[in-house]
Amino acid sequence: MRDCCSPKGYRWVFSERSARAEARRYRRKGLDPTSRRIVDYLKTQGVEGRTVLEVGGGIGAIQIELLKAGAARAVSVELTPTYEDVAKGLLEEEGMSDRVDRKVMDFAQTPGAVEGADIVILNRVICCYPDMPRLAGAAADHARRLLLLSYPRRTWWLAVGLTFANWLLRLTRREFHIFLHPPQRIIATSERRGLQTVLSQRGIVWTVAALRRTA
Ligand SMILES: C[S@@+](CC[C@H](N)C(=O)[O-])C[C@H]1O[C@@H](n2cnc3c(N)ncnc32)[C@H](O)[C@@H]1O
Repeated sequence: MRDCCSPKGYRWVFSERSARAEARRYRRKGLDPTSRRIVDYLKTQGVEGRTVLEVGGGIGAIQIELLKAGAARAVSVELTPTYEDVAKGLLEEEGMSDRVDRKVMDFAQTPGAVEGADIVILNRVICCYPDMPRLAGAAADHARRLLLLSYPRRTWWLAVGLTFANWLLRLTRREFHIFLHPPQRIIATSERRGLQTVLSQRGIVWTVAALRRTA
């Protein structure tokens, strides 16, 4: 990982505390709007019997919703260990512990340690990682049918907001950085791996893109 970010920085941002807060929100209100858009789109494509790989899936709410919708199994690959207890608790509550395999590792560094899946999801993950081509490329390589991505739009007001946020993170020595990787480069990286864009849906902050394997 580059100088901007360290495991300590990730653990500070994605802490046990924020994991517990996210789980409380999910239990009360269900999926947040961006995750809902991803799950709703996948349902229109049919998830019955499909395998799912989610990278940077946090508490694993999308995986639970896809399993409820009929997906066969899911693998979660998370960089930080901070979500594990909360995520396992949610799976136990749903009686799904045996249908999700959770791994704590940097997916971009050792993608070969994980098998491919019918559906691969990276929701709000690419903006948290410095080496976009490595992460998006590995995700694309693992997608047998569909790759679902969400990433921030490249608007001037987001660029200004993130510049300020990154300045604060550097000032407080948090060892974490938010990246506004160019959307066209994210998509081009995935398309070079034999995928074709079939959805690009803009939200206020997050674009949800779906790419389908053609080759
Ligand atoms: C902003 S959070 C998003 C969590 C969840 N997907 C959501 O949208 O609520 C980004 C997550 O991606 C994870 N992450 C970033 N780079 C990763 C990598 N290379 N391998 C695995 N996880 C990664 C971080 O640990 C963090 O949990």
